[in-house]
Amino acid sequence: MARHLITSALPYINGIKHLGNMVGSMLPADVYSRYLRQRGHDVLYICATDEHGTPAELAAKEQGLPVDEFCAQAHDAQKAVYDGFALAFDYFGRSSSPQNVEITQHFARKLNENGFVEERAIRQVYSPTDGRFLPDRYVEGTCPHCGYDKARGDQCENCTRVLDPTDLINPRSAISGSTDLEVRETKHLFLLQSKLQHEVEEWVARHEADWPQLASSIARKWLNEGLHDRAITRDLDWGVPVPADTWPDLAAEGKVFYVWFDAPIEYIGATKEWSDLDPENRDWKSWWYDVDDTVRYTEFMAKDNVPFHTVMFPATELGVREPWKKVDYVKAFNWLTYYGGKFSTSQKRGVFTDQALEILPADYWRYFLIANAPESDDASFTWEHFTATVNKDLADTLGNFVNRVLSFSKKRFGEEVPAGGEPGPAEVALGEEIARLLAEYEEQMEALQFRKAAAALRALWSAGNSYLEEKAPWLEIKTNKDGAALTLRTAMNLIHLYAVVSEPFIPATAATMRSVFTLPDDTAPWVTEPEAKSLTSVPPGTPFTVPPVLFAKLTDEDLETYKERFGGETTA
Ligand code: 2FM
Ligand code: ZN
Repeated sequence: MARHLITSALPYINGIKHLGNMVGSMLPADVYSRYLRQRGHDVLYICATDEHGTPAELAAKEQGLPVDEFCAQAHDAQKAVYDGFALAFDYFGRSSSPQNVEITQHFARKLNENGFVEERAIRQVYSPTDGRFLPDRYVEGTCPHCGYDKARGDQCENCTRVLDPTDLINPRSAISGSTDLEVRETKHLFLLQSKLQHEVEEWVARHEADWPQLASSIARKWLNEGLHDRAITRDLDWGVPVPADTWPDLAAEGKVFYVWFDAPIEYIGATKEWSDLDPENRDWKSWWYDVDDTVRYTEFMAKDNVPFHTVMFPATELGVREPWKKVDYVKAFNWLTYYGGKFSTSQKRGVFTDQALEILPADYWRYFLIANAPESDDASFTWEHFTATVNKDLADTLGNFVNRVLSFSKKRFGEEVPAGGEPGPAEVALGEEIARLLAEYEEQMEALQFRKAAAALRALWSAGNSYLEEKAPWLEIKTNKDGAALTLRTAMNLIHLYAVVSEPFIPATAATMRSVFTLPDDTAPWVTEPEAKSLTSVPPGTPFTVPPVLFAKLTDEDLETYKERFGGETTA
């Protein structure tokens, strides 16, 4: 059995992320990791904060903090939210770690030794007022393409075109606002990606058939446009320093690597951070170096990250000429929109992950987001859809089933799973249906089709409701007590089965459901096909308790409150 290495795109350090970020990378990676662990696989799920680059420096400045302090605080704040969402990372690291510095510098030296790095003089915006070069977002001005007057040096938010700071019209410093800017010549390191084009093409060709279409089409588009050599250093204070042993001049000038050079390397760096905490039992290299097909590596990300992961990072890894593990499967997501528009921090539109947890527990969000993941297309978040889904799927189909069965059985038979009755045609049919749906659920999870997996899970929950409606134990009990006992016992077995198989989606509720029964040695990580068919793992006589309502029903008033607080109108 291959070991599974799983990473989700590293969230930028600045700012708490919104629900769109969550559903496009970390949450599905967590659901998949949990599923694979339950199926007995050896899984390592790694993520980290992406801490370098101009956004981090600018955010620190806004808060009046030294950038290292800002990052340490912001890392903890993000980690707390992810704990709240029950993301079960094996490790959540920091791209500013010494481990990442070491590995990033190693990669740069190797690329240089292999002839893939060159020093080039380029023209950069310099601000005498600030006494420094102004890379990327440090310059603002008017977009030469669309005329938007708050375009940033790296990209225009309005027309999304990628820019160079020297392209901007009427440029000004984002630090001081100074318009007294010059263009000066300075040296930077370039990664000669053009020399690697052919190899990357071959590598993509060997893998893309296995990737989802969204990932392979983006990779193709970039390759067809041709790989360009690109600057991998910047004039910033905060970043992985250019190593002085190899480039003494650039190191003396304080150059650091560009954030997109060191960020993907942090997937490896964070694994080493994890390994260094317990070196006797953990071996980071056994996940990354010379592992071939003994490790299956799956990456999760939103579509804007795909070029970096399918083309540029592989180019870096290939150019190093060492056997570092490359991605096997790229799971890419489209956008989650908010009422069809963009989530916007500045305009206070949309739901941020910390706010989401203030309103409702993580399982409500986890289920809704994954069941509506923007897999084949963009998906729109609306409070109407959210409350309807919670009420129907979680409160009615699952929660109500659990409470109804357990309360009724307790009332009529006491606090143990009732004995009596022999399975008949209804139980045989139910068992077959459950086994079929479970197989469907497993198949979709293994194919990383999250919406379809959620649909199969929902169908499993519904099958219990149909069985209960058909058998109607509240009527059956009047004429056939044994028959009612059988129905309730079978339904309780379904609850136990739901507890096990729902765990990847709703881990806290799953744990509550499982703890309802006092079963010795109840540690089975999954349900086998014979168990699904016979529905007898929880035997008569097993003590049980009735848990509090699993999912609260959301009212029209709740809906109005949410819309008022977060904005609930369509904007263009
Ligand atoms: O787009 C982003 O949010 C980036 N911080 C993702 C980085 S992924 C990886 F390469 F580090
Ligand atoms: Zn523009």
